[in-house]
Amino acid sequence: MKKQYEALFQSYEFKKGISLKNRIVMAPMTNFASHDDGTVSQDELEYYKRRSKGAGMVITACSYVSPSGKGFLGQFSSYTDDMVGSLRKVATTIQDEGAKAILQIYHGGRLSPAHLVPNHDVVSASVVETEQKNEDGSTLMTRALTHEEIVAIIDDFAETTRRAIEAGFDGIEIHGANRYLVQQFYSGYTNQREDAWGGSVEKRMKFPLAVVDAVVDTVKKHATKPFIVGYRFSPEEPEEAGITMKETYALVDELVKKDIDYLHVSVFDFWSLPRRGEENQTISRMEHLQNRVGADMPIIGVGSISTPEQAAKALQVVPLLAIGRELIIDPDWVQKVEKGQEDTIVTKLHSDKQQQLVVPDALWQVILNTPSWFPIEGEN
Ligand SMILES: Cc1cc2nc3c(=O)[nH]c(=O)nc-3n(C[C@H](O)[C@H](O)[C@H](O)COP(=O)(O)O)c2cc1C
Repeated sequence: MKKQYEALFQSYEFKKGISLKNRIVMAPMTNFASHDDGTVSQDELEYYKRRSKGAGMVITACSYVSPSGKGFLGQFSSYTDDMVGSLRKVATTIQDEGAKAILQIYHGGRLSPAHLVPNHDVVSASVVETEQKNEDGSTLMTRALTHEEIVAIIDDFAETTRRAIEAGFDGIEIHGANRYLVQQFYSGYTNQREDAWGGSVEKRMKFPLAVVDAVVDTVKKHATKPFIVGYRFSPEEPEEAGITMKETYALVDELVKKDIDYLHVSVFDFWSLPRRGEENQTISRMEHLQNRVGADMPIIGVGSISTPEQAAKALQVVPLLAIGRELIIDPDWVQKVEKGQEDTIVTKLHSDKQQQLVVPDALWQVILNTPSWFPIEGEN
């Protein structure tokens, strides 16, 4: 390994005592390949196996904790005890290759397609527009969850955490990012409630914090060995009433008081600058956030990092770095850097290499059919 990349291969120890062999994390990536009954498929397991030899920790695709939270076709479920066997296969597949296995858990809320949820009932914090249409062509609106339903979904996050423990995962990550239900509650754009779950910033963060508390309590009750709890969030939203950096600071100030092990900042570009709610726009959101939470709370950074040079630079800001698309394009990225063979890293997807890269059919099709998402060989 080249000296300038040694920082990538330092081990990392979470405060609970769990050690990672290096600083690279596989970012959570939905693969659309699970069976209709919510169990994982062999294709999906092969995909994880191919990618779990290098990174110190692998975060799975998001798994839905309630029937009303399914957000994608071919997504794997974790909302019944029947799923523990399926979840165990994912955990074991990842761990057998040498990485720690983290289950990402979520509820799609407003972004769940109506045809994937019971009674076509798309729910969120409030009644808000979706990007879907009703049969008559009108815009499909969400239904605001009742207090009882909110409490039940919080319990679903706790129950899924118990299942993740039973399935042998090393931890879970609460998916509070990318505009799904947990974020919908925090955002003033999607949460217009006037009860205990909305209104002020403090009330809007009540749901995310209640999910954290329920998960942490479950870990205390059920885990017999150290079990990581992480929280992923998106720091800003573009809408006028959406989340600003100032609001994100308020949320992370509370999150650092909880018994959680890391925060994971979801941005498309690691070095992106703050847009609103932070006057100092000379340094990145990632730097601002790591400064805000302090060195005791590790941040996992992510976002368009594809070379070891970029990774080494990013690791001067945060202790852990997640890589997503690049590990689909080159599953041996980490091992190549480790062996000093970074010159052979592939940075564009070859459309004829699906078998070699071990990518499930559905994910492969989504990648090839989504313009400007992945760098594709032969395209600009
Ligand atoms: C195919 C694909 C699926 C994704 N699915 C998820 C997901 O399930 N949960 C999540 O939090 N982020 C998801 N993301 C976002 C990634 O975790 C990551 O933040 C993003 O791709 C930017 O990192 P990168 O530039 O290293 O790919 C997905 C990204 C891709 C490419």
